[in-house]
Amino acid sequence: MNGKLPFNGPIGVFDSGYGGLTILRQIRKLLPDYDYLYLGDNARAPYGPRSFDVVYRFTLEAVRHLFSQGCPLVILACNTASAKALRSIQQNDLPDIDPSRRVLGVIRPTVEKIGELTHSGVIGVLGTNGTVRSRSYDLEISKLYPDFTTVSQACPMLVPIVENDESDSEGADFFVRKYVSALMGKDPRVDTVLLACTHYPLLYDNIRRHVPESASVITQGDIVAESLADYLRRHPEIESRCTRNASCTFSTTENPDDFTRLAAIFLGHSIEAVRVTL
Ligand code: DGL
Repeated sequence: MNGKLPFNGPIGVFDSGYGGLTILRQIRKLLPDYDYLYLGDNARAPYGPRSFDVVYRFTLEAVRHLFSQGCPLVILACNTASAKALRSIQQNDLPDIDPSRRVLGVIRPTVEKIGELTHSGVIGVLGTNGTVRSRSYDLEISKLYPDFTTVSQACPMLVPIVENDESDSEGADFFVRKYVSALMGKDPRVDTVLLACTHYPLLYDNIRRHVPESASVITQGDIVAESLADYLRRHPEIESRCTRNASCTFSTTENPDDFTRLAAIFLGHSIEAVRVTL
């Protein structure tokens, strides 16, 4: 496969659906000159309730597709895919597909930043069922900060609420309150609540209202963008292969008209999308 892949190209940004747009938005703010190719696997989203094997298989197909479009670097802008597929792809698949390309996730950069943000060392994680069950955050946090405590709460209703444009509804308020109080009930010393799902920034105001004032609420967009900028500085062999025409192309595995409509909510401006088959 290596010989046939274009050498230079856009930075690939992958998510199960729309959520990665909240990450892409912040990446483009910080690094506007690069070209980007966004892929949302909307036809098979949500990934949150799916098993390890299935998330891994779907994510690998997406990565292969983005490589075939020339991406020298792919960001898995999805916590569930980062939790369930990143390591296997990096360790088992990349050496065969093309060892000169890179796939990065969102969990490690987020965890690296968390040490600067907490005072109590007690971190609360809100995520999908998949992310919470994988215990990826607990494990990464305990590796970097052995003294920290992590408590997590799965929030299975929040992705459908956001995707159905119900973020400002009473239903959203009910579920946010329920999940936040379950999280805080696990350890009231939590002083840093991490929104470990790319959809949750759209519920930020609501979540902020329910989290005690003494705790901060952290979104990942800026953290991932800064970490990518740092990565590109440290890896000129990858950076020099990322083309720079300030373009951004959006692709989805579902109906592009639906994607276009909902993407505007995540991005704050309208876009055009094309349909791809993985
Ligand atoms: N984007 C996913 C994440 O960050 C959530 C959406 C899904 O369940 O597919 O975990």
